Amino acid sequence: MKISIRQLSIEGLRALKIFHTKHACSYRISDTSFVNYLTFPQYVVVVAMNVNGIILGYTICLVAIDEADVIYLYVDAKYRCRGIATQIFKYFMSSISGLKRMHLEVDVNNAEAINFYKKNEFKIIRIRKAYSNNSDSCEMIWCKVEHTV
Ligand SMILES: CC(C)(COP(=O)(O)OP(=O)(O)OC[C@H]1O[C@@H](n2cnc3c(N)ncnc32)[C@H](O)[C@@H]1OP(=O)(O)O)[C@@H](O)C(=O)NCCC(=O)NCCS
Repeated sequence: MKISIRQLSIEGLRALKIFHTKHACSYRISDTSFVNYLTFPQYVVVVAMNVNGIILGYTICLVAIDEADVIYLYVDAKYRCRGIATQIFKYFMSSISGLKRMHLEVDVNNAEAINFYKKNEFKIIRIRKAYSNNSDSCEMIWCKVEHTV
């Protein structure tokens, strides 16, 4: 299947809201938050789209100079394990010049996501007790490896 990966601007608001409403409904994102994510320069929204402009997955990250926090990452369940999240992440990482560190929190029971992040060179740095919905979470980071000559 042909997909394209791109950074979304405010023109993509409708497509993002449709995707979120259809798939990622375990958490609610208000219309104002969607607009903020797509317009404030500190947020970067990267999506995977099919040829018809339908979003198959997305990430929203908060960037501060050379660091980023992953706020959301979601791939349509029908299209998982095909490398879509990996492509979204690679695109994001290469689009932030000088990115040195990424950080996120994920539920300790979310094996798919933890495996995904480990495969993409994130490491667990600590477990936070009763962080979200009384469930423990893993705090994970990725640090750029500096090669010395
Ligand atoms: C986590 C998620 C984004 C991965 O998306 P994806 O497009 O399937 O990921 P990719 O195909 O790029 O990467 C696949 C890797 O992820 C991990 N993975 C994905 N699904 C998995 C599963 N069901 N069981 C175990 N590992 C899994 C594996 O490391 C896998 O690599 P492998 O195929 O070599 O074993 C997706 O499962 C998802 O949207 N989950 C629901 C939302 C979520 O939990 N988001 C993260 C919250 S922080």
